[in-house]
Amino acid sequence: MDNLKELEGKRLHDYNEVKMAKLVSPIWVPGPVIVGAGPSGLAAAACLKEKGIPSLILERADCLASMWQLKTYDRLRLHLPKQFCQLPFMPFPKNFPTYPTKQQFLAYLKAYANHFDIKPDFNRIVVSAEFDNRCGYWRVKTVDLKKEEEAEYVCQWLIVATGENAEAVVPQIEGMNEFAGPIFHTISYKSGDMFGGKNVLVVGCGNSGMEVCLDLCNYNARPSLVVRDSVHVLPQQMFGRSTFGLSMCLLKWFPMCLVDHFLLVMSHFMLGDTAQLGLNRPKLGPLRLKNLSGKTPVLDVGTLAQIKNGKIKVCRGIKKLTQHAVEFVDGKVEKFDAIILATGYKSNVPSWLKDTDMFSEKDGLPRKEFPNGWKGVGGLYAVGFTKRGLLGASLDAKRIAEDIENSWKAAKATHVLAFTCATSPR
Ligand SMILES: Cc1cc2nc3c(=O)[nH]c(=O)nc-3n(C[C@H](O)[C@H](O)[C@H](O)COP(=O)(O)OP(=O)(O)OC[C@H]3O[C@@H](n4cnc5c(N)ncnc54)[C@H](O)[C@@H]3O)c2cc1C
Ligand SMILES: NC(=O)c1ccc[n+]([C@@H]2O[C@H](COP(=O)([O-])OP(=O)(O)OC[C@H]3O[C@@H](n4cnc5c(N)ncnc54)[C@H](OP(=O)(O)O)[C@@H]3O)[C@@H](O)[C@H]2O)c1
Repeated sequence: MDNLKELEGKRLHDYNEVKMAKLVSPIWVPGPVIVGAGPSGLAAAACLKEKGIPSLILERADCLASMWQLKTYDRLRLHLPKQFCQLPFMPFPKNFPTYPTKQQFLAYLKAYANHFDIKPDFNRIVVSAEFDNRCGYWRVKTVDLKKEEEAEYVCQWLIVATGENAEAVVPQIEGMNEFAGPIFHTISYKSGDMFGGKNVLVVGCGNSGMEVCLDLCNYNARPSLVVRDSVHVLPQQMFGRSTFGLSMCLLKWFPMCLVDHFLLVMSHFMLGDTAQLGLNRPKLGPLRLKNLSGKTPVLDVGTLAQIKNGKIKVCRGIKKLTQHAVEFVDGKVEKFDAIILATGYKSNVPSWLKDTDMFSEKDGLPRKEFPNGWKGVGGLYAVGFTKRGLLGASLDAKRIAEDIENSWKAAKATHVLAFTCATSPR
């Protein structure tokens, strides 16, 4: 709970700083402004650079790929083979393993930024972005949290690259304030180091929850996993190939329902009946479910074996928390020392992007479905919101650069006029 309070405190602190900040005159950016220096923002900047178009990346953190650097656990590896995670124009080094570690992925991203000479403007949080109908340009307001300075950027193209995982989803659970032990989200979890011998409840059975449970086992903690609904667990590899790669290959030849059927038969053969372990499968197959709802199947990296041998217990949904225990919806009550919320992430776009129809207020994702969600109106673009990981981000980045290239040359001629209009007082 302390960690959550700290998070709340920081938000309030950030807000106060926004109010304190001093405003300076607008800055004209000749090329696109990209919000976010994660893999998607870097990919967009690189694709633009390849076309001779300069861009400016505004990033709230003090480093690139801040989600990977600051908000992920130590044992994390890419869960898809590296060829499906590389950004445009630069493959992973040959000596990297099939599933690079988090540190290797970060090294790759830093090398990528160096290669394309991408230098994001760090510590600059975008607090609002609005299309100015008066002159037909975007006004992007930022706050430099370190210098306590506000700045406004004016540009023709705005590329949203703040990610599907910008903020932690923290559910409100009855009794949360009464629970005596720590409660924190996976963004603050690094390793099971401090949990040896402890009873830890992990809430949520996505890839994060499953992997955190495995990590806790490796540190001799006693994890329990909350599975409130159904989940598809698939082996990471089949026939020596990645399940993802194999599925992509089969989809070229067979309809999705047939590939789903194949995946389920193979998973049953390799992993057994997961329902026997308390992990009921959804009615829709894994690929159809991903396509319709965006819900990612879990790729098993060893957690299932620990559930089978009883080292990880599976629990139903939580009813409420008391000082030292958790009551579940099936009436069971168990004592826990700590709770880790592996309850996922959400986009933060609705909190800063004003008056556009492109993004849904509800989930902060583009309203248009894949593959059409990358382009809005008035020079607005989205990269990395396809629910298709790094592969989807690369596709978006290439499309965006091609689209902007068409208007870039024509626009250069009119920018002198625009500059005068956009930077004059409103
Ligand atoms: C634990 C975990 C593991 C994953 N593993 C894989 C994997 O193996 N393969 C795969 O393909 N995908 C994976 N994903 C999906 C993941 O979303 C992508 O890998 C990738 O990080 C997406 O990049 P992004 O740039 O779109 O978003 P992010 O990496 O989240 O980057 C967005 C950036 O925007 C910045 N930002 C946000 N709001 C603002 C603002 N208002 N102003 C300024 N800056 C802002 C953030 O600080 C951040 O640096 C994983 C996700 C998680 C959570
Ligand atoms: N490279 C890797 O190995 C790796 C590792 C971790 C994550 N990832 C990726 O990162 C992204 C996010 O994964 P994630 O696992 O963090 O989030 P996620 O896939 O969104 O899963 C969140 C889980 O929390 C559950 N949940 C939410 N609120 C709950 C509540 N109040 N009570 C009980 N359960 C609750 C959800 O259940 P419902 O389904 O019922 O809502 C779901 O099972 C995914 O794309 C994932 O593939 C990759």
